[in-house]
Amino acid sequence: MSQTHSHLFLDAIRNKPIERTPIWIMRQAGRYLPEYINLKNKAGGFMSLVTNPELACEITLQPLERFSLDSAIVFSDILVVSEMLGINLSFVENKGPMFDKTIRSERDLNSIPTAEFEVENLEYVFKTIKLLKNELDGKMPLIGFIGSPWTVATYIIEGNSSKKFTNVLKMLKENPKLLHKILDVLAEISIQYLNKQILSGIDVAMIFDTWGGLLNDEDYKEFSLLYINKIKKSLISKDIPLIYYIRDTGKKIHILKNIDIDMLGVDSSTDIGIIKRTIGNSFALQGNLDVEVLKQEEGQMRQAVENILKSYNSPSGHVFNLGTGITPDISPDKVRMLIDILADISPKYNVK
Ligand code: CP3
Repeated sequence: MSQTHSHLFLDAIRNKPIERTPIWIMRQAGRYLPEYINLKNKAGGFMSLVTNPELACEITLQPLERFSLDSAIVFSDILVVSEMLGINLSFVENKGPMFDKTIRSERDLNSIPTAEFEVENLEYVFKTIKLLKNELDGKMPLIGFIGSPWTVATYIIEGNSSKKFTNVLKMLKENPKLLHKILDVLAEISIQYLNKQILSGIDVAMIFDTWGGLLNDEDYKEFSLLYINKIKKSLISKDIPLIYYIRDTGKKIHILKNIDIDMLGVDSSTDIGIIKRTIGNSFALQGNLDVEVLKQEEGQMRQAVENILKSYNSPSGHVFNLGTGITPDISPDKVRMLIDILADISPKYNVK
């Protein structure tokens, strides 16, 4: 393990003094970049990139070559963890993820070889991390990530990106015991997978709980947060900062204010200042520009960035990001504009 220790992004997470607000962008390596589309077409699709460490490394670096971003994030997906269960993942163009098996019954669960999970099936991710650490050479931190057990379960139980969540919500009502068994398995493999990413060299760990906000407060605590806490307790290194991202952040902040993490990813539906005043200095915040602002003119963008910095209103503990992943309809020029605007106006909000 050779982690990067000193960097603006890490200082912001640790609430240390910073001279400007750092920025990275969720899905920063993706379809809004022509060089990404080119390489993806050549390779034959998204999974061909993800499973080839040299190509995954190259794709990770593409946005860093174009823009002054403050962190790299491993090019992969939260759903590859299914391969530890022998469930094959594919991505169908314009349809999203598809699995060759779903887990909807005790029998489905029993058919999975749970005695020994195959973390080796994800060797391509660990190789990508090692290649990246070499390329980044301590100059830039690297984020590794997993999906939350709840969010990954919504896909594995549905079998695709249905967005209706019919089967998983039915299981929650009718067979919560089975759902907990599935979540236990997903938590166990996620711990193994994230710890191996740490051993391979990531500097920051992130958990994406995109669909945590779908649950009411009691269900959220029982079916999502419980497993987040379990993962946090099982991490092999206490020095690796943990970022937790959940959509509908505002609706869950009364629960989240006590969570043991280093930084919370905030979506765009809430004023970041309200979140900041609720949590005090308990942990850092990341976010939360609405991706739609990247379709607007410079003046409007400047105003939106200023509003976030003003509302956050504290000299450290903030990493700028969008509230969701960047979408394919955004022009790369607008990303450059955003980064320039932030570099221009954020120093007056910081102390160093
Ligand atoms: O942020 C990064 O640049 C790192 C890579 C990354 C991807 N997915 C690459 C990707 C990360 C961190 C993710 C997380 C992820 N994946 C989440 C949680 C965050 C979020 O976006 O809410 C979820 C729910 C997934 C599952 C997933 N992956 C879906 C539903 C889809 C299809 C819809 C879509 O946005 O395309 C993906 C595909 C995916 N994952 C792409 C990328 C770059 C697009 C692939 C392509 O067609 O080129």
